[in-house]
Amino acid sequence: MNTPIIDFVREYQEREGTRFHMPGHKGHVFFGWEPFDITEIPGADVLHQGRGIIWESERNAAGLFGTGGTFYSTEGSTHCIKAMLGALCMERGGRERGDGRSWLLAARNIHRSMVDACALLDLDVRFLWGESPGSLCSHVISAEQLEGVLCQAGEKPLAVYVTSPDYLGQQEDIGALSCICHREGIPLVVDNAHGAYLHFLEEKCHPMDLGAAMCCDSAHKTLPALTGAAYLHVHPRYGQRFLAYVRQAMLLFGSTSPSYLTLQSLDYCNAYLSQDYPERLKETVARAGEWKRMFAEAGGRVLPSEPLKIVIETAGFGYSGREIGAEMRAYGMECEYEDQAFVVLMVTPENTAKDWERLHEWGENTRMLRCRREGMPVSVGGRLRSRQVMSIREAAFAKSEMVPAERAAGRVCAAETVSCPPAVPIAICGEEISREMVEEFRKFGIKEVSVVL
Ligand SMILES: Cc1ncc(COP(=O)(O)O)c(C=O)c1O
Repeated sequence: MNTPIIDFVREYQEREGTRFHMPGHKGHVFFGWEPFDITEIPGADVLHQGRGIIWESERNAAGLFGTGGTFYSTEGSTHCIKAMLGALCMERGGRERGDGRSWLLAARNIHRSMVDACALLDLDVRFLWGESPGSLCSHVISAEQLEGVLCQAGEKPLAVYVTSPDYLGQQEDIGALSCICHREGIPLVVDNAHGAYLHFLEEKCHPMDLGAAMCCDSAHKTLPALTGAAYLHVHPRYGQRFLAYVRQAMLLFGSTSPSYLTLQSLDYCNAYLSQDYPERLKETVARAGEWKRMFAEAGGRVLPSEPLKIVIETAGFGYSGREIGAEMRAYGMECEYEDQAFVVLMVTPENTAKDWERLHEWGENTRMLRCRREGMPVSVGGRLRSRQVMSIREAAFAKSEMVPAERAAGRVCAAETVSCPPAVPIAICGEEISREMVEEFRKFGIKEVSVVL
């Protein structure tokens, strides 16, 4: 597969011309990457507005993922999520509307960027609370649940929105949900930030394979791409309806100075994915599966999850995820996420034999199994409920003050309150803060909360 962005930048850099353009480093080496860090000069195309090398590279990506259109972002899924919701609003804007406010139906385990998008676009959200392993991060909703809610809803939502896979590697049944949504004429929008690789598994299960209307993938989370590299994909069935709006919305929320280093790494991913990636991915999936099996046989607990995550439940052994994360650090490993009950590791084909050796060594020696304590409750935010008393936008732009978290009960949340990672809000703008939420703030170490004055 060709790499038009990489080729252009290499050729430009080899010319050794004088750079009377941005960036200010002029290609001189301070760290090493500066010669390849250019801006939108003639020939370099313009992100989302051109028909040159970026457009060509995006078309390569669309072909690889089998989409109706794929857009690059150098500002992560955070940017793509805003653009997806922006595109929904633009499409709605062109049609006759009743008096009702536009709303989204979303599984509760949203990333904070979705709430930010709703604040900017003045969208309401009705939440679906699904099956959870006892964590804020996961809310798997069933097809029956979705059908029931849609059946009772008078005015239809602008879209159904789910996060899958989530931070604990739990996956929604995108195939079943998209069938229902398609039948109802409602787009299914998926935050697939953690699942770019799913299209390359033997059994493909990327949202684009399963009928979602749109999704975002953080390429940087599971593929060998620089931080910030992300895709926004539109399903071929929804191309006609959304492609032009998505392009417009990417511009609305994006920077006019996209990083060409990040664009090159997305360009590189096309070549990488089109070579032996599926075989290498298969090997890694097998390796992770084998480790999980061995660890479970040794008495450990691993949640069933998407294949590139290893989700270790620690609370049942009397240890917090944070304690076990610290233990792993002593073995030279840094995990992706740790909380009161879980440790999450993310693996890819780029993990080396040494990385796996370390993990095996830790698994054989961890005090969690050798020196088991009395179990602690697993629940970290999985069973919260909320009451929206003000719109997200009203609360986000209201006058506010910071108060100590333990005194926030009964107040209205002004800025979504998250611990990051996982950046899944405990309280969302406009919600009344309950005693249960205050308890979750404590568990996640949140000391102060922004509330409406
Ligand atoms: C579920 C989920 N969605 C969206 C995002 C935002 O992605 P990005 O960091 O690529 O902007 C994250 C980031 O961790 C995430 O976990």
